[in-house]
Amino acid sequence: MIEDYVPTGIPGVDRILEDKGLPRGQTILLSGGPGSGKTTFAMQFLYTGATQYDESGVYITLDEEPDDIRRNMLKYGWDLKKLEHEEKLMFINISPVRIASEEATGLIQIGMKEFRLVKLLEAIKKGITNINAKRVVVDPITIFTLQYPNEIERISAMRDVIKDLRATGCTNLLISELKGTGWDREHQFEEYLTQGVILLRTYLKDTKLIRIFQVEKMRGLAIDNQPRPYDISTNGVEVYPDATVYK
Ligand SMILES: Nc1ncnc2c1ncn2[C@@H]1O[C@H](COP(=O)(O)OP(=O)(O)OP(=O)(O)O)[C@@H](O)[C@H]1O
Ligand SMILES: [Mg+2]
Repeated sequence: MIEDYVPTGIPGVDRILEDKGLPRGQTILLSGGPGSGKTTFAMQFLYTGATQYDESGVYITLDEEPDDIRRNMLKYGWDLKKLEHEEKLMFINISPVRIASEEATGLIQIGMKEFRLVKLLEAIKKGITNINAKRVVVDPITIFTLQYPNEIERISAMRDVIKDLRATGCTNLLISELKGTGWDREHQFEEYLTQGVILLRTYLKDTKLIRIFQVEKMRGLAIDNQPRPYDISTNGVEVYPDATVYK
C-alpha cells in the first residue's frame, strides 16, 4: 500500500508535520531568503528519500551548476555522484546561463528561447521516467516565473506546472526566493497555488542571526504552524520543534 505521506527525514520537520511528512503527490513551496538553506533542505529531502525510503529523486536546477551543488553537498557527507550512479538521483540542468556540452555531461540542456513551461515539464517528465522518481525539486521556480511578466499569464503558467506535477504522482518541492526577510513580508502568488508552504527566514536579534522555520500551510494536515528555530550544520538542516522563537 502506498502511504499517504512522505517523510522528509529532515530532523525535526516530520514532527511538525503531524509526525507524518509531506502529503504524497502534492506540490509544496519552499521559500526563503539568500543562504537560508533552501538548496540544502531540498537536497536533504531527496537524499534521505533515496537512501532511507527507496524513493529516487529528480533535481531540476535553474540556478546553480550541478557540479557546484555536488561539491557543496559533500560537506554534509552526501555523496550525490554515488546516488546518480545508482540511478537514485538525477540532475536536470536548465540554467539559462550555461555552456556545458550535453553529451559529455549527460545532462539534458534546454536553450534560452524554449525556456518555457512546456520545456520545463518535458524535462521533469523525462527525469521522472528515467529513474522512476518519486520526489522532484525545482530550484528555484522564481527564474521560470520571471519569463511571464504578465501577471495573469504567470499565474496561469504556474497553475499548469502544478497540475502537471500532480499528474506525475511525485511529491514536489518548488523553491522560491523570499522577498524581505524577518517577520514582515509580502505573500507571493505561488503560496496560494501550492498545497503547502514552508518558510525559511532569518532575522537579527541584537547582534545574533536567528534562523526561523515555519510551516505556513499544509493542506490536509493539522500542522504546528508556530515559527521554530533551525540550524544549518555539518549534518545539513535541523529544526527544533520544541523550541520557541522570541522576537
Ligand atoms: N556546516 C555548516 N555550518 C553552518 N552553516 C553552514 C554550513 N554549511 C553551509 N552553511 C551555510 O548554509 C547556507 C546553505 O546554503 P544553501 O545553498 O542551502 O542556501 P540557499 O537558500 O539555497 O542559498 P541561495 O539563496 O544562494 O540559493 C549557506 O549560507 C552556508 O554558509
Ligand atoms: Mg540555493
